[in-house]
Amino acid sequence: MVISISYASHGRTNTARDLFAADPGRTPALTVESQEIHADFSKQRIDRAVLADLIALLGQTPFAARRAAMFAGEHINTTEDRAVLHVALRAPRHEVMRTDGLDVVPQVHAVLDRMGAFAERIRNGEWKGFTGKRIRNIVNIGIGGSDLGPAMANDALRDFAQQDLQFRFVSNVDPGDFAWKTAGLDPAETLFIVASKTFTTQETMTNARTARAWSLAAFGGDEKSVARHFVAVSTAADLVTQFGIDPANMFIFWDWVGGRYSMDSAIGLATMIAIGAPAFAEMLAGFHEMDRHFLEAPAERNLPVLLGLMQVWNTDFLGFESHAVLPYCQHLTRFAAYLQQLEMESNGKRVQLDGTPVNWHTCPVIWGEPGTNGQHAFYQMLHQGNITVPADFIAFAEPNVDSLGMHDMLLANAFAQTRVMGFGQTAEELRAQGTPEALIEPKVMPGNRPTTFIMCRKRTPRSLGQLVALYEHSTFTAGAIWNVNSFDQWGVELGKKVASTLLPMLTGPATPAPDPSTASLVHRYRQWRNR
Ligand code: F6P
Repeated sequence: MVISISYASHGRTNTARDLFAADPGRTPALTVESQEIHADFSKQRIDRAVLADLIALLGQTPFAARRAAMFAGEHINTTEDRAVLHVALRAPRHEVMRTDGLDVVPQVHAVLDRMGAFAERIRNGEWKGFTGKRIRNIVNIGIGGSDLGPAMANDALRDFAQQDLQFRFVSNVDPGDFAWKTAGLDPAETLFIVASKTFTTQETMTNARTARAWSLAAFGGDEKSVARHFVAVSTAADLVTQFGIDPANMFIFWDWVGGRYSMDSAIGLATMIAIGAPAFAEMLAGFHEMDRHFLEAPAERNLPVLLGLMQVWNTDFLGFESHAVLPYCQHLTRFAAYLQQLEMESNGKRVQLDGTPVNWHTCPVIWGEPGTNGQHAFYQMLHQGNITVPADFIAFAEPNVDSLGMHDMLLANAFAQTRVMGFGQTAEELRAQGTPEALIEPKVMPGNRPTTFIMCRKRTPRSLGQLVALYEHSTFTAGAIWNVNSFDQWGVELGKKVASTLLPMLTGPATPAPDPSTASLVHRYRQWRNR
């Protein structure tokens, strides 16, 4: 099997200090730059020999063949018998990318053009609401991949957005979400984007019905208002029409776009309205640059390949089960949440492509928050807890805004944290500083926490595209080594089914629940709801 090589002799016991002492040239050797991304892998617990072995391991996996098959539009999502062709979403107009014999690039650009024209009408006020007022509020209703990408991009590119438009994102079936996000909005100035690949997702369809009732109530129930206040993004044209949304206000995408790989499809409509079609095109160009790099760069200089290899190394060979994402950028507030779906829904799998169990760990737990805030919350554990959590630091060199040298402070903190995670602080150093003996051990920082530092030049639509594509392809790389299908998500289904069977037990006549614990929860719930 692919992950059977023993790496016990490599890296496992080396500390970062040993590794740097043994190879003073490791930083340039383990740093890769492409486009405007500088990634330093030298504080990972690898050496050049381990990296060569990992690249050799990659060569023994179906990775290269699967990457070629993805770009060729083959049905690599085997359990759903679908192509995985999100790379076509950012292909330039002149390129040809086929699946099932059809060049999809013309369709992609036809939708992008329609999105661009629509976005422009919202942005310049030509598109009017039912009462003739211009649209000021855009509410995206979607969940998972139909929410996280646009919501993440909305924060990431907030300062590139047209400032007289406000964007809100409703996702949770918790009625509080809709109430919270629409509080204070004037229905006459509000456009809803109902975003759902399948147009069947319970949360989204329920929120969409709630939105329609909320909107209609403001227009005396006049159904004609729906066409002015609702648009849809979906692969399911028939269901959109059934819902009552004018097909002219529908933006499609295709079953070869996975939900978590869809922020650059029509699912990005809210992003396009915010930043405009030219800036959206810049973002797509960034995605495409990373696609080409992923396809063409040799493994040892290939950013997504190296990031994916680090994930496999830390998870399977060093045994770390969690991975922190630490953006030193407040605008990347939702980036860890976005990566949670991208990586955990893709690679949180228990069987290989042929259905046999995997005997190695697949996706670690992905989590994180922006620094410096995280420093004052969970970094204590990162530095001195006895569970090691590898981390990716992400930062932008050039500030988009600055005040009193704050951006330098931000970056100094980021560099400091990755340094301390790597090199720590020894008892000898503490003694040399005159630390009282009783405080030596509490203050020792073991270091040796593996980190990658990803520094982008500046936060722009283009660099965001590069960054997201970097993680899409590193997820692909790790999934190919783990030999799992990174493009299905059967694990999400059972919970949805059980929720539908439990709903009548909460609302209808009391009926037996499937187990004593559920029975007790349902019983107390009904009592407290006077049912
Ligand atoms: O969580 C499961 C899932 O199918 C995701 O993969 C998807 O992004 C999300 O639900 C939303 O699905 P849809 O876009 O079809 O509403």
